[in-house]
Amino acid sequence: MTNVTKIKKATKVQAPIVEALKKAYENPTYQFHIPGHTKGNGSLPEFKKLIGRKALCVDTTDEFDNLGTLHPATGPIKEAQELAAKAFGAKKTFFLLNGSTAGNLALAMGLTKKGQKIITNRNCHRSVLTGMIISGAEPLWLIPNRFEEWGIWGNVSPESVEEMLKTHDDVAMVWITNPTYEGVVSDIKSISAICKRYGVPLIVDEAHACLWNFSKHLPTPALQLGADAVVHSLHKTGGSMSQSSMLHIAENSLIDVDAVEKALKLLHTTSPSLMLLASLDAARANLDSARGRKQLERAISNAKYLRREIEQMEHIYDLKPDFGYLTDVTKVFIRADGLSGKRLESILEIDFNIEVESASDAGLLLLSNIGNTKADMEYLVKCLKQIDKTQYSDICYLEKKKHMPMLTPIIKKSLREAYYSPKETIPKELAIGRISAEVIAECPPGIAILLPGELITEAHLPYLTDYDFIEVLK
Ligand SMILES: Cc1ncc(COP(=O)(O)O)c(C=O)c1O
Repeated sequence: MTNVTKIKKATKVQAPIVEALKKAYENPTYQFHIPGHTKGNGSLPEFKKLIGRKALCVDTTDEFDNLGTLHPATGPIKEAQELAAKAFGAKKTFFLLNGSTAGNLALAMGLTKKGQKIITNRNCHRSVLTGMIISGAEPLWLIPNRFEEWGIWGNVSPESVEEMLKTHDDVAMVWITNPTYEGVVSDIKSISAICKRYGVPLIVDEAHACLWNFSKHLPTPALQLGADAVVHSLHKTGGSMSQSSMLHIAENSLIDVDAVEKALKLLHTTSPSLMLLASLDAARANLDSARGRKQLERAISNAKYLRREIEQMEHIYDLKPDFGYLTDVTKVFIRADGLSGKRLESILEIDFNIEVESASDAGLLLLSNIGNTKADMEYLVKCLKQIDKTQYSDICYLEKKKHMPMLTPIIKKSLREAYYSPKETIPKELAIGRISAEVIAECPPGIAILLPGELITEAHLPYLTDYDFIEVLK
């Protein structure tokens, strides 16, 4: 039996990059090429001890050891992308380094031109904005529903998309974030039907939802609902390593795939990490296996357990789909009476050694992951119960309550024009009435408060507490 067949037998799933990398590890060569640490021999010993010699041995880049290339995709990388396309139901899948950010940038750069319009939700990720700065396309903002009590943006209504398409021509594409960071789902099926009627491609930023394809207990993925292209941050919830993502092109996509591929090549590093690419291959293989599906069902049942337990609590609440929209059950957004999300986050962190996904003034987000055990959830529930019974005070919250930014922008200049205009930095208090020159975003998940070209008003000030100075147009 060859090494490769042995591995296939052991893992029972096909993962070509993982297999090729293992083969390279087991058959080391005398290395006179990058990376210069040369299998860790040139690394700081403490670093090598921390991450392990093996990790450094497999830290290589494309073109070496028969591992294939990323641009153009060849060898095991090409095979792995084809397997991913099959698993996600796409015509073509591109592996992305630099996250879904790289996919969003390539979509904007490849598919839009200066002055063309992109219909997109105001709570889009900053990579969508950067894409527009690069290409010169201009946003037509869809203002999603707002769940004021929770301080979060809701879903995008299909009617608002249709209204925009009716009133504007030269629309290059509709670009919807789905779900939101907190798991609120939009009606992509209806939005897609509308886009098709107007002959405009639909891009769905599904960065937070790569798991949907693998369980019938999660919302339907956009590739099954008529989207033309979709980005997935596999590293967020799918089990791959940080920074690795995928861009999928749908079977009957309207978009120019070559243009996107060219943009990806321009935007990507010329030394892609084989370790990150292998982690994408491995994550797809895992999710598509019986083991992965079991992990996902466990994540879903853990989330349901957590929600049931929260239901019994007196002062802690979870965001439920009681406004008539769908949610992703694995994203549990909670809030507590009298406590800001940030204060609740620090109580969990300091008193209970628990780290959450994110926190705002209103609440905090917990992810029930494929890697979490039932015991993890039970511990979390025990701690939340204790918090529920304790009288914590949150003076800061009572005095300075503010929520996620929900302001309708007043656009004075195009994103690209403003970004490249002369600027000056002034104290925040003097910035009212001036035009912003920078992207000011709430991070995570990087939702914009102010963009280049937008008028700064008094209403922005509560969201700018982290800033003493602001860049404005001269
Ligand atoms: C909606 C959305 N799209 C894209 C991204 C960028 O993803 P990545 O971190 O994989 O570059 C994020 C990151 O938080 C996001 O929230």
